[in-house]
Amino acid sequence: MTLKKKAFTLAVGALLAWSAHAADVQLSIDAGKPGPVIHRNVYGQFAEHLGTGIYEGMWVGPDSKVPNVRGWRKDVVGALKALKVPLVRWPGGCFADEYHWREGIGPRNQRPVKVNTHWGGVAENNAVGTHEFFDLVEQLGAEAYVNGNLGTGSAQEMAEWLEYMTAEGNSTLAQLRRKNGRDKPFRVHYFAVGNEAWGCGGNMTPEYYVNQYRQVATFLKTPDNNRPKFIASGGNANDTRWTEVLSTQNIKFNFDAIGHHYYVFPSGKWEGKGSAAGFKEDEWISLLSYTQDFEKTVAANIAILDKNDPQKRIGLYLDEWGSWYDPEPGTNPGFLVQRNTLRDAVLAALHFHMFHAHADRVHMTNIAQMVNVLQAMIHTDKTRMVLTPTYHAFALYTPFQDATTLPATLSGNPEYALAGKSLPAVSASAARGKDGKLYLALINVNPREAQTVKLAVQGAAARRAVGQVLSGEAMDSENTFAKPEAVKPKPYEAQARDGALSLPLPPKSIVVVALEG
Ligand code: AHR
Repeated sequence: MTLKKKAFTLAVGALLAWSAHAADVQLSIDAGKPGPVIHRNVYGQFAEHLGTGIYEGMWVGPDSKVPNVRGWRKDVVGALKALKVPLVRWPGGCFADEYHWREGIGPRNQRPVKVNTHWGGVAENNAVGTHEFFDLVEQLGAEAYVNGNLGTGSAQEMAEWLEYMTAEGNSTLAQLRRKNGRDKPFRVHYFAVGNEAWGCGGNMTPEYYVNQYRQVATFLKTPDNNRPKFIASGGNANDTRWTEVLSTQNIKFNFDAIGHHYYVFPSGKWEGKGSAAGFKEDEWISLLSYTQDFEKTVAANIAILDKNDPQKRIGLYLDEWGSWYDPEPGTNPGFLVQRNTLRDAVLAALHFHMFHAHADRVHMTNIAQMVNVLQAMIHTDKTRMVLTPTYHAFALYTPFQDATTLPATLSGNPEYALAGKSLPAVSASAARGKDGKLYLALINVNPREAQTVKLAVQGAAARRAVGQVLSGEAMDSENTFAKPEAVKPKPYEAQARDGALSLPLPPKSIVVVALEG
């Protein structure tokens, strides 16, 4: 057989394999029943002073040979811009409660060098401070989420930071900002009082934190046209107590949302989390089923808010989420370096569907983190850069930013089960995009079996589906510097036959399409 013929036969074989399935899964979408809008900031990201997440990964300094704009890498910022990153959270994380903003302003060569005690004990030269951060978000066209320091800071320090960033008049702090090169105020969209107050942010009880919050929040003032949404540090993992306490203490002033954190580990345990790559199917399913469990935690926290805040004044922000594995061998364990595979892309997509399903309370989330740290979008190695499967998952879902949710109901959805874990094989989410198009996202979590989804759409015509599919050869397919395009979206198209539109889903795949009449 010639090489060409062989390739064709393989492609047809692959297509046939896709359509091998027990029974079709039925999906009904009602285009006439719009639900809540998916806030674009649920696709937000997190950049902490941690490992090479900021320094090297994004910031190289204006004098670097690596092409940059005022110190920020051109390649990385360009790729993040293409991703339409709507929001960046900074400077931590645990780092936030050790960060003193005054050390990060003024001439860079005069800023103090500190020890990043939380992350690897390395030197922190404060080269990236307030002005540099806002330059980054402005280059990206993103909104800014600044995390204040409650742990080792004070109400005064946070109040003065806000004044420095937002003051319009001629106060000494506004003048200092101008002296440092910024005339007009920075736009601060979100401001948090501490991070993980239950742990690295001070090991507090919720009752103690809530009183701290009330006191500090009283002094956080900005001009009315630059008032951020104020976030209280909430619970972790399956916890609901922080949400309960925060939402029953009648905090009237400067309280817009609770920030809840949830990471998933293949083993389900903090010690011995499991590997990022080279895993077997039992760790594929365990990680995805822990992701599915996150839904229960979100629903439980929302039920508490619905009880205590029926007017839906308080948002539930999931301001840290993602996969967390054992550190990559040979790297500084404090740098949280991990590989990123197709499993991470599928995991991210399952999170997106959950965020869409709770769009009325979940208005903002931040994946941890943006570059080189944990479940990153981008990996860099000195001058090189590679886009991870997670990057491609985020890219596929950009039409869902600010889209209006539509009911999407699955039936005949088989369970994917193994080693005592199980979850529905197919996950679906539909929305009307800002561009007026009808978008559908489908995930097949089964790594061995294809599925076919048979579509019924009320209130709109759907004869054709056009978009992209993301999959890979193996469960742990990844992009490396040697093979940067192993996992990459491919064009996808399906046409109605006899008036019915069916969408074949390859094993372990994500499909995002626009439905056309
Ligand atoms: O994202 C890494 C760390 O995880 C953050 O600094 C902290 O908030 C969380 O525990």
